[in-house]
Amino acid sequence: MNAPAAFAPLADLSADFPGMVTHDGKPWHYLDTAATAQKPRAVIDAMARALGEDYATVHRGVYSRSAEMTLAYEAARRRVARFLGGLEEEVVFTRGATEAINLVAQTWGRANLRPGDRILLSQLEHHSNIVPWQMIAAETGAAIDVCPLTDDQRIDLDAAEAMLSEAHKLVAFAHVSNVTGSVLDGARAGQLAHRIGAKLLLDGCQSAPHMGVNVSELACDFYVFSAHKLYGPTGIGALWAKAELLEAMPPWQGGGAMIDRVTFARTTYAPPPQRFEAGTPAITEAIALAAAVEYVDAIGRERIHAHEAALVARLRRELGMMNDVRLFGPEDSAGIVSFALDDIHPHDLGTILDEANVAIRAGHHCAQPLMDYLGVTATARASFGLYSSEADIDALIAGIARTRRIFGKG
Ligand SMILES: Cc1ncc(COP(=O)(O)O)c(C=O)c1O
Repeated sequence: MNAPAAFAPLADLSADFPGMVTHDGKPWHYLDTAATAQKPRAVIDAMARALGEDYATVHRGVYSRSAEMTLAYEAARRRVARFLGGLEEEVVFTRGATEAINLVAQTWGRANLRPGDRILLSQLEHHSNIVPWQMIAAETGAAIDVCPLTDDQRIDLDAAEAMLSEAHKLVAFAHVSNVTGSVLDGARAGQLAHRIGAKLLLDGCQSAPHMGVNVSELACDFYVFSAHKLYGPTGIGALWAKAELLEAMPPWQGGGAMIDRVTFARTTYAPPPQRFEAGTPAITEAIALAAAVEYVDAIGRERIHAHEAALVARLRRELGMMNDVRLFGPEDSAGIVSFALDDIHPHDLGTILDEANVAIRAGHHCAQPLMDYLGVTATARASFGLYSSEADIDALIAGIARTRRIFGKG
């Protein structure tokens, strides 16, 4: 995605977010949206209604409240499908992106991977898009290859092209890196994978909240995301997969709701997506996720992207002028800026910033192989959301100056 042509600040939306003030009522400069997003009142209210006056189970009840709840739960699935540009029968609700990737690894992976097969991951993946593949590779005898990065820490698709062979059955890449914010050219990644008959899984945790996503334009086979990073609740996310792939995938967890008929002699399974949703689902969370998607789409994902890109550009410009700052990632990062100060550990910076009501993330960001590649143990990470503003950047820059003074470096 290209950087926006002009700075297009969104109206101040912080009033929609009760979490955006400190407990003593001061503005909170929340710069950790890549970890989890604050929730708008519309989502909180939708969840409260679903847990309160609308509450009942789904799929089983013969009484009207349960029938209504079933309609609302399935409407949430349709809403998520529309958000992604897919079909409702292609959306499986999971506990989040991590569970969605594990689901693909344990079902599609177990059914399709054989000794000698290969999986291509990249150097910048979140542990959630590494460990499930290591586990299934150990079980099936498949091997994992790691695609290197470009100088500005994007997944190097030229290198991927050179590495891919007929032995590769799956390419699993982050659509947007949670550390560098680099955006993958999903369409090209899809072409490269499909050319040699492999499937493409995109980890959309950091793309779904920050930019427009359309799974058919991306040419992926699997796309996963977590609701809590998209202004929705924890405990829910989704796997989108092409219908014919889901149809051919064996079930994963067994239990109620995923069956067609159970006898002790033989059990048959429901069609997808129910086949992959064993047990009572996260009903209220699904409804609140639909409210989050509604909220985001009402603002517009392209506008959100433009707003965050402008904030990224300003923060990178300011940090780039500091001699003691090492900046990671490309200029056109999707809402995420990782950096390190010479001689001041990111954890110390994060702790001192907290005293000024500035919340950043410091650590390895569940991407230890990327930290090894960058030659650091941790970075500081500021990540924006649709409620972020120039004032947050001002507070961060002032906080960095204060940290330097405290360490006698200013
Ligand atoms: C790129 C990426 N992938 C996967 C995950 C895992 O998401 P969750 O913990 O919500 O399953 C995250 C969360 O930080 C992420 O940023």
